[in-house]
Amino acid sequence: MTTTLTVTTSTTQYPVVTGAGVLATLADRLAELGLRGALWLVADEHLAAVAEQTAATLRAADYRVHTITVPSGENSKSFAELHRLYDWMIGNGIERRDAVLALGGGVIGDLAGFAAATVLRGVALVQLPSTLLAMVDAAVGGKTGINHPLGKNLIGAFHQPRLVLADTNLLATLPPRELRAGWAEVIKHGVIRDAGLFAALADLAAARGWHAANPAAWDAGDAELTTELTGIIARAVAVKVEVVSIDEFERGERITLNYGHTIGHAIEQLLGYRLLHGECVAIGMDAAARIAVALGMCAPELVERQRALLAAYGLATAMPADLDREAILALITRDKKVQAGKVRWVLPTAIGHVTVRSDVPIDVIETVLSSSPAL
Ligand SMILES: NC(=O)c1ccc[n+]([C@@H]2O[C@H](COP(=O)([O-])OP(=O)(O)OC[C@H]3O[C@@H](n4cnc5c(N)ncnc54)[C@H](O)[C@@H]3O)[C@@H](O)[C@H]2O)c1
Repeated sequence: MTTTLTVTTSTTQYPVVTGAGVLATLADRLAELGLRGALWLVADEHLAAVAEQTAATLRAADYRVHTITVPSGENSKSFAELHRLYDWMIGNGIERRDAVLALGGGVIGDLAGFAAATVLRGVALVQLPSTLLAMVDAAVGGKTGINHPLGKNLIGAFHQPRLVLADTNLLATLPPRELRAGWAEVIKHGVIRDAGLFAALADLAAARGWHAANPAAWDAGDAELTTELTGIIARAVAVKVEVVSIDEFERGERITLNYGHTIGHAIEQLLGYRLLHGECVAIGMDAAARIAVALGMCAPELVERQRALLAAYGLATAMPADLDREAILALITRDKKVQAGKVRWVLPTAIGHVTVRSDVPIDVIETVLSSSPAL
């Protein structure tokens, strides 16, 4: 099953294709888009074999392909790695009509995307996401960038890709913990905008008997399962496609994607990135839902349903015992998405619906944080 969606912004339009095996269609799709120049394939080191195979297929279709691998991990979103990509591209004669292909997770998408946005004042970009998080989130929407020693994602540009090709077969080799972290974003998309997606995730979990001790896993040998999961992933991609089509530059609707991230980001930083982003988002979603309950915006039952679903997909919502809850509050007020000194909270009113509130009293946040279950 292949799902093709279209991102439509004020300036551009591009297809986002999700399905098992879609990477094999890359050469044809590039030709359809009129991309005939040389291709600069930037791959995560863990995808070196996939990169080689992809390059061979592209060469067989008469493309000139340059390949480079980038060390895995957040540290590669650096000036040093960006500089290495510029040296490689410029040293080998990149031209304006060429395209950069980013094969990997969000790290590669952000880094190679920023290189594509800036080299020769911008060349075409194709996102080939290989993690669940990148498929449903990072590869769609045009945010690219690197980290600065003083903070994450502080240098970057909006540069929409010409094509996003999410081949779910790549998830077969993704480490289980990375997969689980990706489910947090999928569940988040259900809570913020698609109650049907939330229900589909819950139905599949019930049918498969998934729970905290026996959570969802990718089983490449189970065709029925991978087809169902691919359908669910495509539905989660649709949420991101809709949101970025409404709000290309994060002036409004796009902030809803930040659900669970206000507290999540603070936890990530305070724990020195010991937990993965998605793991922190799951804890943040639980806290945000409890803030909404405390404000009378939604029923306590929402917290329970969300917690059960996160658990079924392998995500804990309790806070690590060594986490300093006062420090979370202090960090939140410094969050990037604070506007005019106010924290903008994305809070659920029902599964599938969220509201943005800037008037959450500090004592409500304190109470929710101090009453958070601890591991
Ligand atoms: N641009 C955006 O809109 C956006 C949105 C969300 C997150 N991000 C960024 O995304 C990054 C996180 O992305 P991520 O979670 O994809 O992490 P990642 O890119 O670091 O990948 C996670 C790990 O999985 C490995 N890996 C990737 N695909 C694999 C595969 N198919 N098989 C085996 N191993 C594989 C990688 O080598 C890495 O070790 C962060 O830097 C974050 O800032 C960007």
